[in-house]
Amino acid sequence: MDLCDLSGKVAVVTGGNGGIGLGMARGLAEAGAAVVVAARNRDKSAEAVAELEGRGARALAVEVEVTSEASCRALVQTTLAELGRLDILVNNAGTNLRKQPQEYALAEWHRILETNLTSAFMCCQAAYPAMVKAGAGKIINIGSMMSIFGASFTAPYAATKGGMVQLTRALACAWAKDNIQVNAVLPGWIDTALTVQGRRDIPGLEERVVARTPAGRWGHPDDFAGIAVFLAGPGSDFVTGTAIPVDGGYSVQG
Ligand SMILES: NC(=O)c1ccc[n+]([C@@H]2O[C@H](COP(=O)([O-])OP(=O)(O)OC[C@H]3O[C@@H](n4cnc5c(N)ncnc54)[C@H](OP(=O)(O)O)[C@@H]3O)[C@@H](O)[C@H]2O)c1
Repeated sequence: MDLCDLSGKVAVVTGGNGGIGLGMARGLAEAGAAVVVAARNRDKSAEAVAELEGRGARALAVEVEVTSEASCRALVQTTLAELGRLDILVNNAGTNLRKQPQEYALAEWHRILETNLTSAFMCCQAAYPAMVKAGAGKIINIGSMMSIFGASFTAPYAATKGGMVQLTRALACAWAKDNIQVNAVLPGWIDTALTVQGRRDIPGLEERVVARTPAGRWGHPDDFAGIAVFLAGPGSDFVTGTAIPVDGGYSVQG
């Protein structure tokens, strides 16, 4: 058995039009999966689809607003209508807003919770019947170093990313009987649109990350291709409920 072969499989990657999501989409596509790029920005999604198709993959852009239950359900319905099945769901869409805890408006708290955490729950619920029907499924939830550490400037984000790990464990327990494996990936500090502002705003962040990371560098979106293929493929059939750091060693540095 080729443990990296995803041919015939269909993957949905929320936030798959850039950053870590696109890095995972590239890995899944190269392993043979058809990939649905699910995000809001049409131009970015069209560009991502063209890139994946250029690599010989089948790819489709579906516009989704992950804070809307109807939109998450429509994403799954469109995937099934266009590609016939849904085997792999990557809950990667996310956002952040850096402030001291006392400065957040409640609406900001809710927006971050809905975008990062409630969205994953809604997409999992929407995808579940198709996975049960197929007799198998793989769900990959994106956490963060903020799933395990705290920081003064990121209270709602940290709450969502801690919640993502607990959601992963709960779904793994519930859906093991359906042969659905649910795992989380915890990225370290990765060079994407989400961290560009932080690197500008937080003095010394750029250098501190490099100094603390045993690998001695920031991560790149393509560092996520391999873990996506592993967690989406037959090599991880007995792996469920885990939270795997992909961080160049950041989380184990003493
Ligand atoms: N970069 C890091 O260092 C780092 C570290 C730990 C965890 N992460 C996590 O990794 C994931 C991806 O982040 P990234 O760093 O790759 O940043 P990014 O490039 O900004 O990616 C975020 C993605 O989410 C999509 N998105 C955001 N809000 C959405 C919404 N309401 N509905 C649909 N799609 C939405 C965006 O696409 P549209 O704008 O087109 O909708 C975009 O594709 C996030 O969950 C983030 O928390 C990142």
